[in-house]
Amino acid sequence: MEEGKDPAAITTVISRSNQSRALPQRFIQLLALFLVLCFTISLFSIYMIRKTGVVTTVTSAIPILQPCIQEQPNNNLDRWITPPSNLMHTMSDKELFWRASFVPQVKKYPFSRVPKIAFMFLTKGPLPLAPLWERFFKGHKSLFSIYIHSLPSYEPRFPSTSVFYNRQIPSQIAEWGRMSMCDAERRLLANALLDVSNEYFILVSESCIPIYNFTVVYRYITQSKYSFMGAFDDPGPYGRGRYNLNMLPEVNISDWRKGSQWFEVNRKLSTIIISDVTYYPKFLEFCRPACYVDEHYFPTLLTIQAPNLIANRSLTWVDWSRGGAHPATFGATDITEGFMMKLHEGRECIYNDKPSSICYLFARKFAPSTLQRLLLFAPDFLGY
Ligand SMILES: *[C@@H]1O[C@H](CO)[C@@H](O)[C@H](O)[C@H]1NC(C)=O
Ligand SMILES: *[C@@H]1O[C@H](CO)[C@@H](O)[C@H](O)[C@H]1NC(C)=O
Ligand SMILES: *[C@@H]1O[C@H](CO)[C@@H](O)[C@H](O)[C@H]1NC(C)=O
Repeated sequence: MEEGKDPAAITTVISRSNQSRALPQRFIQLLALFLVLCFTISLFSIYMIRKTGVVTTVTSAIPILQPCIQEQPNNNLDRWITPPSNLMHTMSDKELFWRASFVPQVKKYPFSRVPKIAFMFLTKGPLPLAPLWERFFKGHKSLFSIYIHSLPSYEPRFPSTSVFYNRQIPSQIAEWGRMSMCDAERRLLANALLDVSNEYFILVSESCIPIYNFTVVYRYITQSKYSFMGAFDDPGPYGRGRYNLNMLPEVNISDWRKGSQWFEVNRKLSTIIISDVTYYPKFLEFCRPACYVDEHYFPTLLTIQAPNLIANRSLTWVDWSRGGAHPATFGATDITEGFMMKLHEGRECIYNDKPSSICYLFARKFAPSTLQRLLLFAPDFLGY
């Protein structure tokens, strides 16, 4: 029986149960006190946040936000003359061309403007000759800017010290001979026009090299009366032969031109090219697909709209002497002292209406394998 238990044992049990009952009581009291305290504190906090807390946060945040606000060039001239810090944007071509076509009516700039040359690289992907270009650009930071249009899938890996770092523009696929090539060129022009310091716009490719140093190139381009758009009237099947009478009245055969796509144009002509948003519809309709729009469109457009502003020749030399549909591509073994000498020698052309022996500032096409030898010869033969 339970009652038959020893009394001493019972007392211990009682005193134990007394003790164990006393502990939870204390604990519960403490807990209750704690809960009340918590509740009061949270109520107080809510009240404080509502009443003053928000105000305190905002006032303390303003000094932090203010420098940011001030850095945004909002109400001063900088807003209009500082180039975009990030070349990536979400504008469509239509939006971009509209924005880029803004032209000031007051011709004199109200600030000291040093005209820059925009080098626009139209490439598939990497720039294998980048080290040569880096050397060419070195020391002339304020006189040029760079824009790269490559396949949209290509992800460039230039170090942050490179002149090519972060110079990609939003790009789309461009095919040779197709309108998409002209679109890519216009996209380059339009992005470069967003920087008001850019006055000259030159299109180059990954296989192209400068054959004079920056000083010579800058002077030649900035002191020229004309822009350099190759445009000639070719009576043969690949020239006038590609003209179609249905292009009338937009394009008369007397204005039909052919030319190299590697042009150099000034701000005024760039604006003409990108403002012509619809292209000549009949030109497009009757030039495709066998007529190589990219060889005819810009030369013909400028011959119609600004014939007196173009030199009708290109600044980029290519070697057609080997015949065929494509110009020669030079490899490492072609790059000899004799070859380098010939890049400058025996030239004759008209520059600013006078004979000149400097006719080309750039040359193509150079394979990636030529880099080391070009770097070797450039100081002696190219002046950089
Ligand atoms: C094309 O231009 C030539 C000369 O510039 C002119 O004589 C001819 O009438 C023009 N043709 C048409 C169809 O406008
Ligand atoms: C380029 O050709 C156009 C005609 O197509 C002509 O009016 C212009 O004078 C030429 N430019 C130069 C610099 O000769
Ligand atoms: C650039 O080249 C020209 C001629 O080739 C030369 O006279 C000039 O010293 C060179 N300039 C620099 C900065 O190397």
